[in-house]
This record gives sequence, structure tokens and C-alpha cells, in this order.
Amino acid sequence: MYFIANWKMFGGLNTLNSLHNVEKFLKKFKKNKFTKIIYCPPYTLIRPMSKKLQKSRIKVGAQNCHEAEIPGAFTGSVNPSMLKNVGARYVIIGHSENRRDGEDDKLINRKIKTSLKMGLKVIFCIGETLKEKRKKITKKILIKQIKNGLRNIKTKKNIIIAYEPVWAIGTGLIPKIKDLFLTIAFIKKRMKNVKILYGGSVNPKNIQQLKIIDNIDGFLVGGASQDYKKFIDIIKKTYN
Ligand code: 13P
Repeated sequence: MYFIANWKMFGGLNTLNSLHNVEKFLKKFKKNKFTKIIYCPPYTLIRPMSKKLQKSRIKVGAQNCHEAEIPGAFTGSVNPSMLKNVGARYVIIGHSENRRDGEDDKLINRKIKTSLKMGLKVIFCIGETLKEKRKKITKKILIKQIKNGLRNIKTKKNIIIAYEPVWAIGTGLIPKIKDLFLTIAFIKKRMKNVKILYGGSVNPKNIQQLKIIDNIDGFLVGGASQDYKKFIDIIKKTYN
């Protein structure tokens, strides 16, 4: 199971102190071998975090990147090779908060291609808005995002998909368990041998329901991942 922490635009150097608690927990955790933990802090924390986790099983990822292969005049941007250089092994691409800010499928496709080429593993986010859900076009939207986002990408080996319904992010809402099972199954059928995670308001309470869904390969956690106790709780409860 994957547990990915997306810290979004939160966290300073002091927040790194809590990581040793997660490490301590992992060392004693019986399911350690089956558990992959990835922290995606803001760009500013990637280097100090990866240094801190040098000898750890916990990996570090970024939350986005620029699509250019070669560094250049792109003010405010960071490309995949720069991320790798400071210790990132993963990158989240296509998050709805970035799609909302104007990233389209085409740009997402370019970002994924560059990231894979530079040797990063990609956490590719897809998901429908509330409006799309109400119109009952979720499947159509997911297919479009997958098809366009992964266009001309042959090997899916280094891609993980995170299904994050936009209406479930930061709202405290999660899909109905049966609906979520069916949606994950739908994605899995299309994306054979690719890990599919769920994201959107995952917390220590609703994990009790979410863990019942046996086709999910893990969780992408936003808000609750900033509190190490909650994050550990989510991991523990997933297996219990
Ligand atoms: P929340 O867990 O805060 O709803 O965020 C989910 C998310 O966007 C993870 O990428």
C-alpha cells in the first residue's frame, strides 16, 4: 500500500522535526515491508527533507514541475532534473488545484513525459468535478484525462494514478464506498498493472470505511498528512 503525503503550500523547516516520529513508527510497524511512504512537501523543503530521510525508507516527491527538459528562462519554475538533483524521486502531476489554475491535459502530458525521461516516478492525478459528477459523466472525464495525459507514453511502469474527485478534496466528503470501488475497478481495467490510489478528505475516521475497498492500492492524503499523528493513524488503521 502507498501512503503519499501532499503537504500542498504548507510547512517550514520546523515541520521536518515530526518526520522522525513517522520513522520510529515505521521501524516497529509489522506491515513495514508492504508499506510505501512518500512525502511531497513544497519545493522549499525537498532538499532538507531528503537529507533528513537519506537513510530512510520514506521517499520524497515534489508537487509539480515545469515541462522543459533543459533548464532555461522560466521564472519561478523548477524542472524534473532539478527536482532529482535535490533528492526527489516522485512528482505529483495533474493535481486538480493546478488544473484549476489552467493546466490542461496537453501540458500535463508534457510534464509527465519529461518527468519519466528524467527518471522520476509520476503520481498522476485524475478526477471529476461536482458538476461532472452530477451530469453523470465521471467515466468519460476519467477516460479523457487518462488518454490525453498519457498520450504517447508506452511504458506505464513508473506511473501511479491517484483518483481524486475534485468535490472530495478538502471538503470532508468521500464517495460512496460502492461507487469508489466501481470507479477504481473501471480505472484498473483500463490501466492494467498500474497502482491506483484514492485521494480526497482521507482522515483517521473515514479510513475505517475506505480500507474496506480492496482494489485500492493506497491513499494520497492532503490536510491530514500535515499532522504526523493523523498520518500514522491512517496507515495503522488501513491494515487493522
Ligand atoms: P485533502 O486530503 O486535504 O482533501 O486533499 C487531498 C489532496 O488533494 C491530495 O492531493
